Amino acid sequence: RITQDLAGRRVVVSAGGTREPLDPVRFLGNRSSGRQGVAVAEAARARGASVVLVAAHLEVPVPAGIEVVQVSTALELQVAVTAAMSGADVVIMAAAVADYRPAEVRNEKIKKEEQGDTLSLELVRNPDILAGLAEARAPGLVLVGFAAETERDDARLLDLGRAKALRKGTDLLVLNRVGWNEGFATESNEVIVLDATGDKVVEASGSKSSVANGILDIVASLLVRDSR
Ligand code: C5P
Repeated sequence: RITQDLAGRRVVVSAGGTREPLDPVRFLGNRSSGRQGVAVAEAARARGASVVLVAAHLEVPVPAGIEVVQVSTALELQVAVTAAMSGADVVIMAAAVADYRPAEVRNEKIKKEEQGDTLSLELVRNPDILAGLAEARAPGLVLVGFAAETERDDARLLDLGRAKALRKGTDLLVLNRVGWNEGFATESNEVIVLDATGDKVVEASGSKSSVANGILDIVASLLVRDSR
């Protein structure tokens, strides 16, 4: 028995890690597996939403019944999410987006014979996609961001989260501790959900599916409030 509280809603989820090419065979990437984002997409589908998954690089399969738009780089993800946002009720940015990309993408492999013992890369900032969505969104659209942080201290983690929620302009920010052995590529997760003012709304932990449903409970309550 699953509540159909997202029936008739259009939900866009981004998931996975972007890859920023250096040359035809190499990229800068990150350790996101896409598990949490795919779990959110799957849970939204199960609750009746029509779901578009903007998929960067995933290590997990996408369940049936979800429309997938495949992307690779941050700039591709920006184009795809921005397009999918029109007509959406909810956008959830679970993707791990590269903050920087190589300033130059070589057409030929970088060769160690030519580089010698060191190689410096110049990187340029990628746009903050989430902050851009917050500015461009239609009224009523519920926008959810994720924040993966390595901060160990609880109070400092919450401070970071509050500042980020305000800076990004999200309705909800899902704070997620990550490290060598937690967050990324794991089966379970532990998150703190912050509201638009950066206050803690709820903590959720357990399987990525139960964390997904915990997040969607709050999303659904915001939608209900908006439609009255
Ligand atoms: O600033 P930070 O990378 O911690 O923010 C994380 C949130 O912002 C995630 O929801 C991620 O999808 C999004 N993001 C983005 N564009 C970037 C970097 C992160 O939309 N360039």
